[in-house]
Amino acid sequence: RSAPDCTLVIFGAHGDLTKRLLVPALYDLKVSGLLPDRFRVIGIDRAEDTTDGWRAGLTGMMENFTKDPTAEFYTPKIDETVWTWLAERLSYVRADFTDPAALRDIGSDIDGNVVFYLAVPARFFAPAIEALGKAGLTEEPDGMFRRVVIEKPFGTDLQSAKDLNSHILAVLKEEQIFRVDHFLGKETVQNILAMRFGNVIFEPIWHRDYIDNIQITAAETVTVESRAAFYEATGALRDMVPNHLFQLLAMIAMEPPASFAPEKVRTSKQTLFESILPIKPEDVVRGQYAAGTVKGKPVTAYRDSPGVAADSDTETYVAMKLEVQNWRWAGVPFYIRTGKAMSNRLAEIVVEFRVPPLTLFPSAHAHSPPPNRVILNVQPVQGVTICFGAKKPGPEMRLVDVQSRFRYPDFFVREPNVGYETLLYDCLCGDATLFQRADNIETAWSAVEPVLAGWREGKTAPELYEAGSAGPGGADELLARDGRAWHPIAGQE
Ligand code: BG6
Repeated sequence: RSAPDCTLVIFGAHGDLTKRLLVPALYDLKVSGLLPDRFRVIGIDRAEDTTDGWRAGLTGMMENFTKDPTAEFYTPKIDETVWTWLAERLSYVRADFTDPAALRDIGSDIDGNVVFYLAVPARFFAPAIEALGKAGLTEEPDGMFRRVVIEKPFGTDLQSAKDLNSHILAVLKEEQIFRVDHFLGKETVQNILAMRFGNVIFEPIWHRDYIDNIQITAAETVTVESRAAFYEATGALRDMVPNHLFQLLAMIAMEPPASFAPEKVRTSKQTLFESILPIKPEDVVRGQYAAGTVKGKPVTAYRDSPGVAADSDTETYVAMKLEVQNWRWAGVPFYIRTGKAMSNRLAEIVVEFRVPPLTLFPSAHAHSPPPNRVILNVQPVQGVTICFGAKKPGPEMRLVDVQSRFRYPDFFVREPNVGYETLLYDCLCGDATLFQRADNIETAWSAVEPVLAGWREGKTAPELYEAGSAGPGGADELLARDGRAWHPIAGQE
């Protein structure tokens, strides 16, 4: 079903997000036949450019797209007809998107449905939305919509998130705001809900009686690269935990919503976030990468990277234990970790089950057989793995740990997209299920607030870990204390 007729106005037309993700996603939406015929894209930025120049730049970018290593799922060659269709609909306006007069001029050329996509640094969110309001562009004409999309970061702590929400809610109604967390656009993340609530074999055992612990990992091989200015002030916790990792947590742990209606899903998530107990300082491990080798390439220490202070205390790794205090999860620890410059790129959730009440069979493993695990493989491999014990062939009755795997390419011709197609399409159609509500954002920040408050008082220096390793030793101790161990960050690429 094609999205309704509309104009997409992109603030930050020259930015990376527009080039690397939004335009390719629009292209893919057209390939899937999901864009309306009456569709326009107006790119706005401060840089000197013309419509022809902008189109030419994007054409070159699309033609060379596969040279971009991050473009894992995009089609190698562009289809001329599809691209021409889209390119004809692109126009560029040089303007300051925080200036109401400039926006009023642009607005006089637009009628009908409009989505304003703020692909700009976070410091511009409030001023740009205020300017849209002053220019009268947020008022919804009868039967038409005016929506605004913003990307993370939504603040840097609870207070700044509240301030940002109150600024934008002074101009827009909640239904007009689409807060993107791009992890929610990932097929494998959406599939967690499908798996849990579209089947009957998982949910009956999805609680404290059968589950021992849950581990959520987002390990990256990338380093700080050219993002020091952002990353120094942000660190791994703010960058990944209350947003991306909490989305994974919500999917794996929330109660079944009453229906798949956006507000029901978002309310279910909200209830889960509200059940997270205050995180104890001793349950958090901060790490920072030292020099090392990642995938055979030498990596300089974080502190020696361009733009990073020589004595920087910013964490590039964080691990923590969370407790969710509700009927389903009381007593089940959730261990989460994320870091840069690690041995492998891997995002997954490991649900580890309890062991059977009685050991009837000897194990072929040195110790007892590993517990059953359901592993949600988010990336780079996408699928679900179920690990269980099977009899090793032979005269002896011994159990060995085996795996049953579902991998996307084995069942689907179409590879999962990188997420922006789904998110853009949902926004054009007004489906807010995969977007963050103001209270979701604030409650996620309040869950990590005790940690941030502790760090504000006296930051514990991060523990160094070698680039290319599985993270600091302290993270292993965090689980060893509970008699557990992390699932290995095994290479899948
Ligand atoms: C971003 C973070 O939001 O997500 C980055 O700012 C991180 O630091 C990225 O690398 C991870 O996203 P993905 O989709 O590449 O796993």
